[in-house]
Amino acid sequence: MADILQIKGSARRNGNSDSILEKTIDTLQEESEERLTLDTVVASQLDISSCRSCHGCWETGKCVINDQMQQVYEKCLNSQNVIVAAPIYFTSIPGHLKVMIDRFQCFWVRTYRLGKTPQPRKKGMFLCVGAMDKEHFFDNSSLIIRVWMSTLNVKCREAKFFPGLDAPDDISQHPNYLDDAAESARKFIRMKQ
Ligand SMILES: Cc1cc2nc3c(=O)[nH]c(=O)nc-3n(C[C@H](O)[C@H](O)[C@H](O)COP(=O)(O)O)c2cc1C
Repeated sequence: MADILQIKGSARRNGNSDSILEKTIDTLQEESEERLTLDTVVASQLDISSCRSCHGCWETGKCVINDQMQQVYEKCLNSQNVIVAAPIYFTSIPGHLKVMIDRFQCFWVRTYRLGKTPQPRKKGMFLCVGAMDKEHFFDNSSLIIRVWMSTLNVKCREAKFFPGLDAPDDISQHPNYLDDAAESARKFIRMKQ
């Protein structure tokens, strides 16, 4: 069981959302009495197909598509906390991340169609970056993440928006954002599940 599952939502590595996520994880490690174990999903690198709405999960709650999502399901089931970091793309989350999220329809089926007891309550965090200072783009994205997390019985306890970031190293012009990420991490570690 990993203490934290980090989900990297950007198409590019070492950009703004990766940097903010890294600061968050580092701070969680510093604040924790024991070394935290970490698991990672890079959404853009998943070799997955989109949900076919085939209803193959309706009787079992299990997705019938045998691709890398099967490992992602295991990672989600076997982690205590879930942290998603993603940029805004066209007012929403990136398409590859949405494709991954749609494939969790089988979890929705388990709980709401088959009436199975959801997995134990966990807590989540959403870190979101965008070029423009448009709060409603963040509202849109965080609603998707919150609804997805609730399907996993993960309560999104912290959601934070970092606007004005576009080029991959724009984060270096906003050192206060890394301080904000560290503060969010310190709050998060004290919150109940
Ligand atoms: C396809 C695409 C669509 C984008 N759409 C938006 C948008 O609607 N609103 C916005 O504020 N920024 C938008 N951006 C800018 C990114 O959110 C911004 O570059 C962000 O810092 C990227 O995060 P990263 O460095 O973690 O990859 C878009 C970028 C791309 C590549």
